[in-house]
Amino acid sequence: MTTPTPTPRTRTRLQPRDLRSWKWFGPDDLRSFGHRSRIKQMGFGSEDYEGKPVIAILNTWSDLNTCHTHFRQRAEQVKRGVWQAGGFPVELPVLSLSESYMKPTSMFYRNLTAMEVEETLRCHPIDGAVLMGGCDKTVPALLMGATSANLPCVFLPAGPMLKGNFAGKTLGSGTDAWKYWAERSAGNLCDDDWAAIEEGIARSPGTCMTMGTASTLAAITETLGMTLSGASTIPAVHSAHERLATNCGRKAVELVWSDLRPSDILTKAAFENAITIDMALSGSTNAIIHLIAMAGRAGIKLDLDLFDAISRRTPVLANLRPAGKYLMEDFHDAGGLPAVLWRIRDLLKLDCLTVNGGTLGDDIKDAPVYNEEVILTREKPLSTSGGTYVLRGNLAPNGAVIKPTAAEPRLHKHTGKAVVFNSYPHMKKRLADDNLDVTADSVLVLLNAGPVGAPGMPEWGMLPIPTKLLKQGVRDMVRITDARMSGTSYGSCVLHVSPESAKGGPLALVQDGDLIELDVEARKLHLHVSDAELAKRRAAWVAPKPHYPRGYGKLLEEQITQADEGCDFRFLHHHDQPIPDPEIH
Ligand code: FES
Repeated sequence: MTTPTPTPRTRTRLQPRDLRSWKWFGPDDLRSFGHRSRIKQMGFGSEDYEGKPVIAILNTWSDLNTCHTHFRQRAEQVKRGVWQAGGFPVELPVLSLSESYMKPTSMFYRNLTAMEVEETLRCHPIDGAVLMGGCDKTVPALLMGATSANLPCVFLPAGPMLKGNFAGKTLGSGTDAWKYWAERSAGNLCDDDWAAIEEGIARSPGTCMTMGTASTLAAITETLGMTLSGASTIPAVHSAHERLATNCGRKAVELVWSDLRPSDILTKAAFENAITIDMALSGSTNAIIHLIAMAGRAGIKLDLDLFDAISRRTPVLANLRPAGKYLMEDFHDAGGLPAVLWRIRDLLKLDCLTVNGGTLGDDIKDAPVYNEEVILTREKPLSTSGGTYVLRGNLAPNGAVIKPTAAEPRLHKHTGKAVVFNSYPHMKKRLADDNLDVTADSVLVLLNAGPVGAPGMPEWGMLPIPTKLLKQGVRDMVRITDARMSGTSYGSCVLHVSPESAKGGPLALVQDGDLIELDVEARKLHLHVSDAELAKRRAAWVAPKPHYPRGYGKLLEEQITQADEGCDFRFLHHHDQPIPDPEIH
């Protein structure tokens, strides 16, 4: 990479009257009298808040976010740290994005939470923040909003849940649900065993404990420099996680006084480091979309070709499901993220600033590996190149992605006949039909599942193997769609095809029986249909109608960008003229 490291902004240590919150509480006027009297209404005296940084604890707790059930307790522990360091803590709830329950998909609401985070920080008397997130989209949403607000902040990851267990076997979130569901569909798993898996797969608070989207984004956030060192792998129920919460509270106060802001930390080099760790972990394909969106908020453009270039030079060193064998608890005990980062330090820009007060190089220096089965050596990686490849071709002019480490190698180079589904319900109906004309060599194609088409780009990308093929022992097939897939999923799934079919991308023109060629090493995705025939089909193509006549859904359909652009809303992109603080009247 040739991006020069920019010169860091000159920062001076703030004084109490420099605090943003002083504008609300400091002046001797009627408005500030009102603000102060209302603090007293809550039972606080001037010694509690006067001249102290106000630290917002943005809490994505909810009774329906199963991964954040420990966040009420953690918020209290953050407050303890803020008090210890001489700050004034205020807990503010923001929309929680529950991966398990939100429909049509939590991704639909990522930008809504990001907007709420930005405006919550901007409109209140806040000097700095602790961002509490973990369940998939909460992480980019918090970081996108906080980056746009650009107040000093530190991220507190929820931490992974305990390993699952069934009949003495370890279960991984998502990954093993898909695996055993396939066995059940094939008639190889009884009802009692299936019920026991339901009991044992999610055994504690915390995020999915495979290297799914939550674990990937936590690692990315730490690599970007937005968490305390080593924070991203600490299990949610570990006592170290409680201490981490308190340390985050203390850190937020220090960040305010030292005026270290996201714009100082989130540089192009920091994002290149984040892409590198994503590849070394064989992280979730979703990370690509979120990284592009997060960087966009910092005014940095990340091109898909940059991801592929970094992927080509980065070995996969984390032996974690779904690509490998182990789970997050094992990863933490093996040394955690700093140990992997130290192993690939020659591929990183070590002089990037972090919230820890120094550089990434300072944070990871000499981090030891305790288990080389889990954190592999450079000599024996899981794969010599990174976890996600970027494909291009006449079917995806603006790119598509695949995770080869989670796919059967025999399918890395494959040509097969398309079996096309126009929508998710259409797919479910056709796949249940035992007369469906499909073989193990077919290529399953799902249309209208992208940012606008679905809408919200759900995780439908690991299309189910047709039941009749499951019964024949087939467990992987080439699948192509403009949807995403869960970071815990696996298989030969080509995802994020851009432009999406609902916007007239070439994917919309595929028909049953067309030959499609996938060549992972050559990064190629090609539809073997003549240009003349494609032109004829395009002339007959009719764009699907919008889903929403009003409301947030309408805003999303009008404003969301494509997968290769990060799926942020156009009007939320970085602007050279930052939004000024509100006038205090
Ligand atoms: Fe919350 Fe997976 S469902 S992280």
